[in-house]
Amino acid sequence: MAVSALKDKKIIVGVCGSIAAYKTAMLVRLLVKKGAQVKVIMTDAAQTFISALTLATLSKNEVYSRFERNEGGAWNNHVDLGLWADALLIAPASANTLSKMAQGSCDNLLLATYLSARCAVLAAPAMDLDMWQHPSTQRNIDRLQKDGVQLIQPDNGELASGLQGVGRLAEPETIVQALEVFFIPPKPLPFTGKKILITAGPTYENLDPVRFIGNYSSGKMGIALADAAAAQGAKVLLVLGPTALAPTHEQVQVVRVHSAAQMLEACTRQFPDSDIAVMAAAVADYTPKEVSERKIKKGEGEGLVIELVKTADILKTLGQQKQPHQVLVGFALETHDAQANGFKKLHSKNADAIVLNSMQDSGAGFQHDTNKITILLNDHSIQEFPLKSKKEVALDILTTCAELMRQKQ
Ligand code: CTP
Repeated sequence: MAVSALKDKKIIVGVCGSIAAYKTAMLVRLLVKKGAQVKVIMTDAAQTFISALTLATLSKNEVYSRFERNEGGAWNNHVDLGLWADALLIAPASANTLSKMAQGSCDNLLLATYLSARCAVLAAPAMDLDMWQHPSTQRNIDRLQKDGVQLIQPDNGELASGLQGVGRLAEPETIVQALEVFFIPPKPLPFTGKKILITAGPTYENLDPVRFIGNYSSGKMGIALADAAAAQGAKVLLVLGPTALAPTHEQVQVVRVHSAAQMLEACTRQFPDSDIAVMAAAVADYTPKEVSERKIKKGEGEGLVIELVKTADILKTLGQQKQPHQVLVGFALETHDAQANGFKKLHSKNADAIVLNSMQDSGAGFQHDTNKITILLNDHSIQEFPLKSKKEVALDILTTCAELMRQKQ
């Protein structure tokens, strides 16, 4: 059985006066079974619902309820208790105690411990439906959440009063689970500290001051990739061709470009510093040999011939400059022999992966919010994915990037 995140954690369980206090016996037992060290503090009212002896026996520790220890002048130091704990869990939290916590009152040991605790505080309220719904209770809850107290929501069901509704103490298993989740350390983001260069959108190749050769790419796929990579901790530089769309994540730095030549320039400047580069832009393969300074007038003849020259292949250029630790990913859109052509591109451009966009499936490709991809890898393996939202596709591509990055480390 996996070790619980609660193992060796020091938990103070604060018990208030509520009929639900009987559930605390099970709660304490479950916490101890998970390996937690448990100390219980009870309010006076709590002791009319459950005995200190029960909780002392289950927690394997003496139960605290008063400041003074005995008539000799010794006392229970609430500051020490607060500093000992990794978490203070108040369950059941009565309306009265929640109100006093919100006010900063300090007329019993539990409240004094709450005020001096530096650890996380979780509260699992229990009370009757109308007390729970009362604006003053809700105001107190709101105040406490703003103060950093984590609320374990009460359940909906039959209440001790016979009423039906919200107010039942959450089940001990649910409370333990909330506490466990709290102690599970957050997973480090896969791209923390990594720089990712992404291209997206079309390029426009000017013919004259008012016309250009372009394509229908919206930039959605590359923008989704940029947002998702930033959300996973990457420092993202997005080289974005002409599109009305923009990324939303604030950690994405955008360099707007117009033509293939400008995109090449931005990419070759940024690539040496990047850990990963994903070329999702639909780059023009050809650009007019000459750009007319004046608007091209309609001539006498029936046709117009415009001479085009090849643009530099950005992916291939970066592939030639790629260092062993860098991951380079390209895209490909093929109408026939998709995988064979995709593998040719993968090798000729020295990429680590080619994301093959489907031309066959409705809902995939240019302008759509969905995409269907196949990823071709250098070891000749093929990863096929179903039709998904571009946001989900972005996550799949980034998972592959993270794996390729891991293999190169
Ligand atoms: N690409 C690029 N620079 C170009 C053309 C394409 O970097 N001038 C990149 C694209 O961003 C994409 C990959 O190359 O990642 C494949 O693009 P695609 O247009 O499918 O392939 P091409 O090599 O241009 O071949 P073709 O158009 O003949 O299929």
